[in-house]
Amino acid sequence: MSTYIPTLIQLSYLVASSCFILGLRYLGSPQTARRGNGLASIGMLIAIVVTLLDKSVLNYEMIFVGMILGSIIGAFSARLVKMTAMPQMVGLFNGFGGIASALVAVAEYLRLVGSTEVIPLNTLLIIFLGLLVGAITFSGSLVAFGKLQGLVRGSPISFPFQQPFNILLVLGFFAGCVFLSFQGVNFPVFVGLIFISTLLGVLFVIAIGGADMPVVISLLNSFSGVAASIAGFLIMNNVLIISGALVGASGLILTQIMCKAMNRPLSNVLFGAFGTGDLDAGAGGVGATDKSVRSIDAEEGSIILAYARSVIVVPGYGMAAAQAQHSVKALADQLEKRGVDVKYAIHPVAGRMPGHMNVLLAEADVPYTQLVDMDDINPEFERTDVVLVIGANDVVNPAARHEQTSPIYGMPILDVDKAQNIIVIKRSLNPGFAGIDNELFYNKKTMMLFGNAKDIVAKLGSEVSQL
Ligand code: TAP
Repeated sequence: MSTYIPTLIQLSYLVASSCFILGLRYLGSPQTARRGNGLASIGMLIAIVVTLLDKSVLNYEMIFVGMILGSIIGAFSARLVKMTAMPQMVGLFNGFGGIASALVAVAEYLRLVGSTEVIPLNTLLIIFLGLLVGAITFSGSLVAFGKLQGLVRGSPISFPFQQPFNILLVLGFFAGCVFLSFQGVNFPVFVGLIFISTLLGVLFVIAIGGADMPVVISLLNSFSGVAASIAGFLIMNNVLIISGALVGASGLILTQIMCKAMNRPLSNVLFGAFGTGDLDAGAGGVGATDKSVRSIDAEEGSIILAYARSVIVVPGYGMAAAQAQHSVKALADQLEKRGVDVKYAIHPVAGRMPGHMNVLLAEADVPYTQLVDMDDINPEFERTDVVLVIGANDVVNPAARHEQTSPIYGMPILDVDKAQNIIVIKRSLNPGFAGIDNELFYNKKTMMLFGNAKDIVAKLGSEVSQL
């Protein structure tokens, strides 16, 4: 019987890996996302249980203490964390993944050093790689968390000769690896490698603007997968290799999607020092221009909305910041009661994290069938009576189509300016993430409804209900 156990373990890992792959596939659409999440969780349960049954697990007590502690912390943080704080939460999780992989590399090194056998060169190389990627992911993710949480300055932090210094560190790391590979065990040098890789993670992320952190977090997510995969090679665990590779690849794809939707190459995000995350009035703030805008109040807005045949809601970061999603759903319900056709236009980088708008609107029970992606909704604006822009700015800025000097030139946008009437809810004329003025506000068809998104939308809802 015992000879079958390794085969059974590998077969179970295959089942778990299939669950991960299918789960990812189902996560691709809101309709099947819950099923995908469930399936991937079952895969993870299988992987954990089978690994615990493996005879090479030596200390069950420590594992159970870790599981209980981790579950308590996880359950509390999942309940307490606000939706707007999700990017930093994901950032922290990536960091934990990174340090787990780095610790596997350190533990494996110490185990092999303690044994009598000579450490094979390929094993040493995997240890060094696991340490490097894991430690960079760990420290980089902590800095990303700090920037998003406001604990570390949001604007890019740089110092003279930063790039040459980084290159020197990388060279130092490789020199240390070569030394350990050919000169044998040397603890101070190994500790030096841990220090250099941790420092590299810090220096890599502090140089990037706080507002670009979601992209960086997605990239670090990919790194954490790669680090896990390397750890899988070290401890010869197939499910870890596969799941790490899946995370690595999907994180990279997501990073690419985000960069494409912002029309910025990854190099510009990493080295372009764009967007500090600290929005201020700046150019385009109230009074910064002599162009005039048309402003209306909630009562006027509600009449325009109530007597429209079709309304497209365009949510953006401001809806998330104001937590207005429930009021938005209530307003849509009122409009639908009156026979108005309501849809939501979803820009791929609206808000501050991938799927930000979808998650918030799903939380407010907006049917996913009403959420329409940018490419599908753009042709509809022309024949739409009213577009209601709620806290969106850059993703509806027509300058992206024609203003070649604009930082957002070439970014695909929602063609809101083509609608018959446009109502924009925001607190002022302040710019959004890209820090630039928005010509949509000065369009003859645009009516500005100034105020906090949650209050204004709630007012619109109650006005419509009384009409
Ligand atoms: P933004 O262009 O950032 O504009 C958001 C607007 O919301 C601001 O102009 C602000 O104006 C308004 N606002 C803030 N708080 C508000 C509140 N409580 N009530 C009402 N309005 C409020 O947002 P967007 O159009 O969603 O574009 C997203 C931007 O983030 C893009 O440039 C994108 O490239 C970038 N980005 C996105 C991601 C992802 S993955 N989504 C990642 C990194 C960067 P006031 O201050 O006047 O109210």
